[in-house]
Amino acid sequence: MKFKTAVSIYVFNFLEVGNKIDELVKKGVDWIHVDIMDGNFVNNYALCQKFCKDIKDKYPNVLIDAHLMCLEPQRYIKSFAENGTNHFNFHYESVTDKNTENLTKIIQEVKTFDMKAVIAINPETSPEILKPILDKVDGIMCMSIKPGFNGQKLNEMVYKNIEWLSNYKKKNKSKFFIQVDGGVREETYLKLKQSGAEIMVVGAFVNVPNEELRKQIEKIEGNL
Ligand code: DX5
Ligand code: ZN
Repeated sequence: MKFKTAVSIYVFNFLEVGNKIDELVKKGVDWIHVDIMDGNFVNNYALCQKFCKDIKDKYPNVLIDAHLMCLEPQRYIKSFAENGTNHFNFHYESVTDKNTENLTKIIQEVKTFDMKAVIAINPETSPEILKPILDKVDGIMCMSIKPGFNGQKLNEMVYKNIEWLSNYKKKNKSKFFIQVDGGVREETYLKLKQSGAEIMVVGAFVNVPNEELRKQIEKIEGNL
């Protein structure tokens, strides 16, 4: 699988975010990660459906990866779909009724709206708990930080979560992709790749002068 970067725009100064997205698109970035925080599931607020729509209207070819850090995210499937979201990326921990039947229903509803269903897990959540739904989701996103704040240090537990998923994927010839969010840095990205991460969400890693942006992306997508 080709490695991909998804840029988390939450890290940028909001007054400059339009120019930043413009620069990212010019440099070939086609995945934008939009952090949605409800002030309940996480102790912070951020972004919303309209933000996804505004990006999609201007850049129709950009993939919008909406990372919902919101309680009962199933309430928002339709509104995100109607606002240009491609990946509905929601937390396992944020769903109250975690039985397989309910999680399957949520995943199916996401797909009915023509979005990919991605399930995110916190570093302390074992991916093994997702076994019954691993053949149903399009992707798993391993958090390497506590969700809700950028700029944190990576939690080492993420490596074994990614490795477990990667081994499971090989053994079962599964189709899901493995994504990682948070703490991707100069000193962590290679180990994350070696562990099996295929899509890396980056914030601080690409918050660099414009001339260095392409180099940072190449490091992840190429093999610098
Ligand atoms: C935090 C967000 C992340 C964050 C990544 O809850 O989910 O997407 O912005 O930030 P960095 O890459 O700076 O650790
Ligand atoms: Zn995120």
